[in-house]
Amino acid sequence: MPRIVKNAILTCSWLLLAFSAGAQSKTLAATPPMGWNSWNHYAEKVNDATIRAQADAMVASGMRDAGYVYVNIDDTWEGTRDEKGVIHSNEKFPNMKALADYVHSKGLKLGIYSSPGAKTCAGFAGSLGHEEQDAQTYSEWDVDYLKYDLCSFGDEMAKAGSEEKAHQLMMDAYTKMHKALQKTGRPIVLSLCQYGVDSVWRWGESVGGNLWRTTGDIGDNYARMAGIGFSQAGLAKYAGPGHWNDPDMLEVGNGGMSLTEYRTHMSLWAILAAPLLAGNDLSKMTPETAQILTNRKVIAIDQDPAGIQGDRVRSEGPFEIWAKPLADGSKAVALFNREDTWMKSAMMEVNFRDLGFDGSVKVFDVWENKDLGVLEGMYKTEVPPHGVALLVVSAK
Ligand code: GLA
Repeated sequence: MPRIVKNAILTCSWLLLAFSAGAQSKTLAATPPMGWNSWNHYAEKVNDATIRAQADAMVASGMRDAGYVYVNIDDTWEGTRDEKGVIHSNEKFPNMKALADYVHSKGLKLGIYSSPGAKTCAGFAGSLGHEEQDAQTYSEWDVDYLKYDLCSFGDEMAKAGSEEKAHQLMMDAYTKMHKALQKTGRPIVLSLCQYGVDSVWRWGESVGGNLWRTTGDIGDNYARMAGIGFSQAGLAKYAGPGHWNDPDMLEVGNGGMSLTEYRTHMSLWAILAAPLLAGNDLSKMTPETAQILTNRKVIAIDQDPAGIQGDRVRSEGPFEIWAKPLADGSKAVALFNREDTWMKSAMMEVNFRDLGFDGSVKVFDVWENKDLGVLEGMYKTEVPPHGVALLVVSAK
């Protein structure tokens, strides 16, 4: 073959490769990642059997069919490094590749956890100095998602000498892992976990994050969930396809909140286009919990292809109205009553003009699964304390 033709073919295949790599990184986390994570329910008690059981339950409960796909092992899977520095899982996870195969055989994906520091938050081996090696290992195990938790990297930052240098060090650490993951050629979602330090939403995308935690850890109680969720006002512009604000994993079904409060939790996360990572025991869900987690209309709001995060439109004391623009021109609208639970239900109203609609609109009540028909001007409804009315409003 003449050299010029050979060169042209080579150039073409490189271009194709580069193009598909680019396209791939664009489609990774095109909508907020959905799945399950071990930490909220199992913490350090997670093991191989737990993950298999949760993968089974993800399918049996209808969660997979509702869109939940990642099964994420959080902290405490890490064992020791061998003489070559390769990380091995500990006795709780005898064979990570076999576990990944099992999870994949269910039509699901596997996630794992590490830290840019020497130690993870629970004191297990982190990736400091072994970033490429670890990324390679995850890729050999066929891992699809990495949560990369700052933890003891704070020690490195403390040695930096100045806040600017510490910040740069942290950005470099995340970039390093992003590049290492890219180098494996396997599409692996990168979840930054550093609790929102240094306004991560401003730079998370630039270091390769597909999502970044914007807050400290959630707790299974209304005050903590609401404290985190409602503090997300103003962050909408930083989220979009491939890069999401992450106000932490779901607590729905863990028992510390009422069904009304869990509906509020789920509604707020959907309005925020937040990653939906369930954190309960999926094998023992009540039908009510399953109904909250798998409500197709709520999920559709979260997963809307336009990928626009919602924001607060209005607030008056404990009453807040949030809205999220959807791809078809309609808006998801949530009327939250943050009043304490000993208070009576409140009448809340939303003015359609505040939402950017002129004239009459069509309104659908999501949790009631009820078409409210064509309405003019405003809508008024009763919302219980700690509760929500979740609507989809569209031009007539
Ligand atoms: C931090 C993270 C949690 C969890 C634990 C594990 O606290 O924010 O989500 O990953 O570490 O040790």
